[in-house]
Amino acid sequence: MTPSLIIANWKMHKTISEAQAFCRDFIVLSRGLKKTTVVICPPFTALAAVAASLKSSDIKLGAQDVHWEAKGAYTGEISPDQLVDAGCRYVIIGHSERRQILGETDIMIRKKVKAALGAGLIPILCVGETLQERQENKAYEIVEQQITGALKDIEFTEEDLVIAYEPVWAIGTGVNASYQDADEMAAHIRTCLQNINTRVMAAKIPLLYGGSVKADNFAEFLQGSINGALVGGASLEADSFFQIVRLCESA
Ligand code: PGA
Repeated sequence: MTPSLIIANWKMHKTISEAQAFCRDFIVLSRGLKKTTVVICPPFTALAAVAASLKSSDIKLGAQDVHWEAKGAYTGEISPDQLVDAGCRYVIIGHSERRQILGETDIMIRKKVKAALGAGLIPILCVGETLQERQENKAYEIVEQQITGALKDIEFTEEDLVIAYEPVWAIGTGVNASYQDADEMAAHIRTCLQNINTRVMAAKIPLLYGGSVKADNFAEFLQGSINGALVGGASLEADSFFQIVRLCESA
């Protein structure tokens, strides 16, 4: 069975002490989860503190970005091995905010995926179309380009990778995609994955939905083939985040 995953993307939020307080509350709430893996992706400054807070729990740590080089003169960047050293198991790559605001290209994203896999990190590869691309009926083509651009000729297995479908128009807007749209795109993504890597069982790669996920809109997404969520705004409070985790656990 494909594992269920709920991932918190805190973006540029929380001081170290705020992050520690969240972990204290969330660990109590989430005791005894059986089938849902929870990953928390704090800002770089809080990675070490969150790693220490999560030590006695099953909650996993992830970073929000990574550089592709192992070391060197790259001011401001963080290498895959540095993330592993800080306790990370996962790393978000190719988030639309990085593509759009910071100019990340598919070429950069591919290098990051390759470097992360090489260091034993699990990339959470984000893909998704803009509103204009959807209105122009280009959503499938764009997502296929993003998947191919990031993964073609890269070795990976079912356990190595997570894909998050995050339509750009749904991120932080309060407007989420319908579960049918997400489900159809999930099927398309699995076909793309299968085409570029015939050795993997694409159906077993965890495929998440992201974009204004909240407890009151997420349940229906779990009716289809979506395996979990990448959650921004609603992951900042332990209670609201746990409500989403609980839906996944009881699905
Ligand atoms: P949101 O963010 O849940 O606040 O829409 C999701 C994301 O950007 O990963």
